[in-house]
Amino acid sequence: MNASAVISTDNTIRDSGDQSSAAFGHVLAPGVDISHKAILYLDDITVSFDGFKALNKLTLTIDAGELRCIIGPNGAGKTTLMDVITGKTRPDSGSAFFGQTIDLSRYTEAEIAHAGIGRKFQKPTVFESHSAFENLELAMKTDKRARASLLARLTAGERDRIGETLQLIELEAVAGRPAGLLSHGQKQWLEIGMLLMQEPQLLLLDEPVAGMTDAETERTAELFKTLAGTHSLIVVEHDMDFVTRIAKKITVLHEGSVLAEGSMEEVQADPRVVEVYLGR
Ligand SMILES: Nc1ncnc2c1ncn2[C@@H]1O[C@H](COP(=O)(O)OP(=O)(O)OP(=O)(O)O)[C@@H](O)[C@H]1O
Ligand SMILES: [Mg+2]
Repeated sequence: MNASAVISTDNTIRDSGDQSSAAFGHVLAPGVDISHKAILYLDDITVSFDGFKALNKLTLTIDAGELRCIIGPNGAGKTTLMDVITGKTRPDSGSAFFGQTIDLSRYTEAEIAHAGIGRKFQKPTVFESHSAFENLELAMKTDKRARASLLARLTAGERDRIGETLQLIELEAVAGRPAGLLSHGQKQWLEIGMLLMQEPQLLLLDEPVAGMTDAETERTAELFKTLAGTHSLIVVEHDMDFVTRIAKKITVLHEGSVLAEGSMEEVQADPRVVEVYLGR
């Protein structure tokens, strides 16, 4: 492995739209102000595509440390919601705040990622020829100009952080294995680990257990429950067994708006939710 290969790999990340590793500009004050308990405020958000409202006056608040599940039929606007939070899609109207002070409309995708909002897309985008350990190393939140290559020496603290993350995502035993040889579930966990190396405060996970085996799904549920509290999580998922396993509060989205919100028991007992989603 040589340095230029690493740099080009890094550029590939940027080109593929993962802005988190490209965020050099420290324009945001460090830390998000959660003094009022909430970490995310979406207020009256509307997003139109050619007149069609993918989000329609959507209002949603997420508390710091919460694990929120978002469910709803295909086309309800769940992914669009994540696009708005990460700055990929700009709303036509409404406001989105990260903590008390960070108006997300004023920042680029890269700046939002750098401010502490990490997103996991459905398809894992790990570097297949690099080991699990190296993938985490490449994802570490350091100044990429200082870390031009994997050959640069890791500090003891950095090595520990990678070790702790490998333990958390249960990949210690395969840390040296090329990521391309990992199972689908292991790749998904590795990508979650890569997100965690960026030290996000809010994690957005869109259909994280799609394609996983039952055992992998169960372990992912445990991982998310472990992350909640120290992180805030928004999980979009159609797998209701998984949602049941992890859910505290659930938001049901329908036609771009919040249809219902509450515990699993509450939303399951809501006839409107049964009609548009759970009863199908
Ligand atoms: N860039 C776009 N241009 C036009 N229409 C779009 C665009 N993105 C999303 N839409 C439309 O907005 C609606 C909401 O889509 P979205 O992907 O947010 O749904 P979803 O709840 O994530 O659905 P699924 O469960 O199938 O993933 C859909 O009707 C979709 O076709
Ligand atoms: Mg979607």
